[in-house]
Amino acid sequence: MDFQLKQRGRASMHFLSDLAVATARFKPRIDAEIAAQGLDDATLADDLDERLKQVDQALASSPSAAALATLTEFSATNHGRVAAAAFDEVRSDLEPRLQALMTGPTQIEALPSAERPDYADAAWIHRTTGGWDGHEYQGFIHGELIHREYVARTYPGDIFAQRRQILSVLSRRDYARIFEIGTSSGHYTLQIAQEFPQAEIWGCDTSQRMLEQAQRAANERGLHWRLFKGSGEATGLPAESFDLVTSYIVLHEIPVAATQAQLAEAYRLLRPGGELLFTDVTRYSALDKRGVRWAEYNAVHGGEPFWREAASVDLGAAARAAGFAEVRSEGFRGAVYPWFVYGKKPA
Ligand SMILES: C[S@@+](CC[C@H](N)C(=O)[O-])C[C@H]1O[C@@H](n2cnc3c(N)ncnc32)[C@H](O)[C@@H]1O
Repeated sequence: MDFQLKQRGRASMHFLSDLAVATARFKPRIDAEIAAQGLDDATLADDLDERLKQVDQALASSPSAAALATLTEFSATNHGRVAAAAFDEVRSDLEPRLQALMTGPTQIEALPSAERPDYADAAWIHRTTGGWDGHEYQGFIHGELIHREYVARTYPGDIFAQRRQILSVLSRRDYARIFEIGTSSGHYTLQIAQEFPQAEIWGCDTSQRMLEQAQRAANERGLHWRLFKGSGEATGLPAESFDLVTSYIVLHEIPVAATQAQLAEAYRLLRPGGELLFTDVTRYSALDKRGVRWAEYNAVHGGEPFWREAASVDLGAAARAAGFAEVRSEGFRGAVYPWFVYGKKPA
C-alpha cells in the first residue's frame, strides 16, 4: 500500500535507523579494546556467562562501550513508540484504507486447537512497545513502519530479497499446498506466493494484529490465503495435507521445546515426500567466541529472551529427531546468515 508519512514521523524513524548505523561504528573500536586487553579465542572463557562477565570487566572504563550501550538502549526503548507516533500522524488518512483491505478473499480463521503458548506473553519481542498485539494497527506499524523504515535500513543486504532467495533451497516448484508458521505481517508469505503462484497458501500466527496486516497484503493483491490465528506447535489441522511446511526467522523468538514441537507438527502435517524449510538466525556454532558475545549482546539489548537457546540448538539433529531425512542445516550460500534447516518426510 502506497502511503507517505508526515515529515516529523518519517524523520524520527530515519533518525533511529541512522543512529543504529552510526553506533555500529563503535563495534570495531570496541573489538580493538577487547583485543588490547588480551582477550581472544584462546583466552575468552568457554562458558558464555563467564565470557560476558570477562568482556564487561575489560570494557568497564571504555567510553565507546558506554556510548554504545546508552544509544542501543535508547533505540530499543523508543523505536516502537516513535513508529506508533508516526502512524498516529497519518492515521486519519490511512485508517479507511486499512479497514477496506480487511474485506476480500483472505480472512482470518481460528485454528482447531487455538491454544496460546505461555511464552508468547513472556516479553515484548524486540522490545517493541506493547509486543506483537500492542496496538490496534500493530501489524501495519511493525510490518510497514518498523520493518521497512528501521530494520531494513539498518540490516546489511536486502532483507526482502533474502526471503525470496532462500526458496531456491527447495527442490520442487509444484507444491499444491504450503503451510507457513509465523506468518506475521506477510513479508515471507508474499515471496512464497510469487515463487509458487499455483500453490494454495495457508499460514498461522499467534498474533491477531500481525495476521491482520498479512490479510491486508493478500487482499490488496486479490490473493486468497487461508490465515489462522494460533500456534504452529499443535495446529489441529488434518495430517498429511501439505507439500511444504516453512517459516522465516521465527525460531529465535521461541523456546527450543517449541521449535521441537513445530518440527514434529510439520512432520505430521506433511504428505510423504513433503518438504520442510525453516530459516533462522546464525548458529552460535558458526561464530567465534567474540562473535557469539556480540550476538548475545544484541539479543539481550534487543529484547530476544530465547535467542541464546535457539541459536545454540543443532537444528539438523532436531529435524532428524522429528523424523526428517535428507536433512541440511547450514548458512545460505556459504554465509552464516540466514541459516536454514531443510528436510524431507520419507515417501
Ligand atoms: C519475526 S516474526 C516472523 C516474520 C515473518 N515470518 C517474516 O518473514 O516477516 C515472528 C512471528 O512469529 C509469531 N509466533 C511466535 N510464536 C509462534 C507460534 N508458536 N506459532 C505461530 N506463530 C508464532 C509471532 O507472533 C510473530 O508474528
